[in-house]
Amino acid sequence: MKSRTVKRLVTGLFVTATCAGAYPAAQATDAPSIARGKYLAEIAACNDCHTPGYMEAAGKVPTELWLTGDSLGWYGPWGTTYAPNLRLYMQKLDEDQWVTIARNLQTRPPMPWFNVNMIEENDLRSLYRFVRALGPAGQPAPAYLPPGQVPPKPYIEFPADPGS
Ligand code: HEC
Repeated sequence: MKSRTVKRLVTGLFVTATCAGAYPAAQATDAPSIARGKYLAEIAACNDCHTPGYMEAAGKVPTELWLTGDSLGWYGPWGTTYAPNLRLYMQKLDEDQWVTIARNLQTRPPMPWFNVNMIEENDLRSLYRFVRALGPAGQPAPAYLPPGQVPPKPYIEFPADPGS
């Protein structure tokens, strides 16, 4: 084997090993855009819970209905939560307020607030711009119910102790 080939092989192996071991941080995204916000609403799963019937319809819900909240209850030891109407919610915030809220968001289950805390700033801005571009629509979701109060149907019941 020629020495140049060996060198390339060794360099290649070294690069592969470094990348695999270090899990380099995600690259910064492009400038905020409405199009990216739409993409994020889909792939970051916001629609899955905040858009009525989205999971059941395998995502085939008209964009006008996206993120208008859902009356499906999430019933568990925390009480019953409902995915709020983000179309109305965003109307009350300006973009910078949303970025601050999203960074510090903490809610009851099953909202993955810990994932939202990690969304990169430009992506938060994209999400906001997309929701604002859609404009206000729909009704507020039902109000939260305290633990032990059985909600009206439809609801999804979580096991009291998922570990058992
Ligand atoms: C598994 C279902 C689910 C997914 C996925 C989900 N949410 Fe939620 N979300 C909820 C529920 C349920 C609540 C209400 C929690 C509560 O009442 O404490 C909520 C609450 C929120 C709130 C708080 C609103 C307020 O009034 O304070 C924001 C903001 C939010 N979600 C944004 C998002 C965004 C952005 C995404 C996508 C990145 C997302 N959610 C994905 C279910 C979900």
